[in-house]
Order: sequence, then structure tokens, then C-alpha cells
Amino acid sequence: MSVINEHFATIVPHEGESAELLLADIAEQAAACRKCELCEGRINVVPGFGNPEARVMLIGEAPGKNEDKQGLPFVGAAGKYLTELLGYAGLTREDVFIANVLKCRPPSNRNPRPDEIELCTPFLRDQVRAIGPEYLVTMGNFATKFILKTECGITGLHGKPVMAGRFTVYPVFHPAAAIYDRSKRDALQADFEALGERLKTPRSNAR
Ligand code: URA
Repeated sequence: MSVINEHFATIVPHEGESAELLLADIAEQAAACRKCELCEGRINVVPGFGNPEARVMLIGEAPGKNEDKQGLPFVGAAGKYLTELLGYAGLTREDVFIANVLKCRPPSNRNPRPDEIELCTPFLRDQVRAIGPEYLVTMGNFATKFILKTECGITGLHGKPVMAGRFTVYPVFHPAAAIYDRSKRDALQADFEALGERLKTPRSNAR
């Protein structure tokens, strides 16, 4: 397993504070955020949702139309497929925390812009600190490039765990990219099954 020592290595968990309260506080701050123009077009901020004590935190790109409507991550077609993928790892939605790089929907689902990523990702960093997961499962290029600070694409990185500070980063294809691509579906299934195997050993980092 390769190791990177910068960036996320600087994130240490909040000790003794309730992850649930910290996450609620982050969600409140995100709901009030007007730092970029995405706030103009949003119906809801989508801070993230799930188990504050999760061993596995999944990170996607940005909310889509359904997520913007409901204020929850991965509730559309890609979300339904993600629930299926979690099953291959022996996980349910209740076990994990799901967040995105951006907390607001980009218009017409365009790609996140570098300035938006820079302004929005302090929320994600704080969420990682609050939860202190063992695994950061980065879904697709945007999440993987942001977390690993790499220019390498997801095709070469998926399924290969990387130690980043006290977290194991586990890149996978974005579920939406695999809905109509059989080969990516096979890779996703294999990667989530392999994650499930890894989760059979006791967690390697204390909360
Ligand atoms: N795609 C994402 O990256 N995130 C969501 O929340 C939904 C779809």
C-alpha cells in the first residue's frame, strides 16, 4: 500500500466531542454559507448524511437534482446503485456516512470548479475530523483528486488503498459513471467486495 504524508495527514480527530453534535454544527454552517454563487441556485444545501461513528465515509462529487430537492446525498439513480454496492461490502446506509466534495448543486450538473472546491472543502475536512473514519472511499475523479492531491485518474487508482495520515483512502469509480458501463460495474462490485474483506479485520485507527 502506498502512503502519502501531507494534506489529510494533518487532520486529527476531535477528542472527546460528540461527532453527532460536531456534524450538526457543520451542517448548520453549510446551510448558511453564501461563499460562492452556487448558493443562488440551490433549493437545499446537501451537507451529508449517515452514521457519525462510521468506520467508512464515502465521498462523492456534488449533489444532483434529486439531492438538491431533498437535501440528502445520493438519493437518485446513482444513490440506489450505491446502496446495492454497499451490500457487496456487507454494509448498509446506516453503517456509513455519505458526503460530497461540494455541498450545493452546480447548475445543470456541470463539473465543480476549482474555486468552488477550495471554498467548500473546509466543510468536508471538518466532517472527516468529526467522524474520524478508518476508510475514506472516494467515488470518482473529483473526490479522489481532492483527497489524494493527485492528477492520476480513477481508472488507474480504483481498488488500490492508499494511507493518508490516519485514514485509508480507497478510490472507486463513481456509481453514476457505471450505470451504463458494464466494465465499471464489474470493477465497482469487485472493489466493494474487497472493501468488505478488509472490514473483517478490526479497525486500524482508534477514534
Ligand atoms: N452524485 C454525487 O456525486 N453526489 C450525490 O450526492 C449524487 C450524485
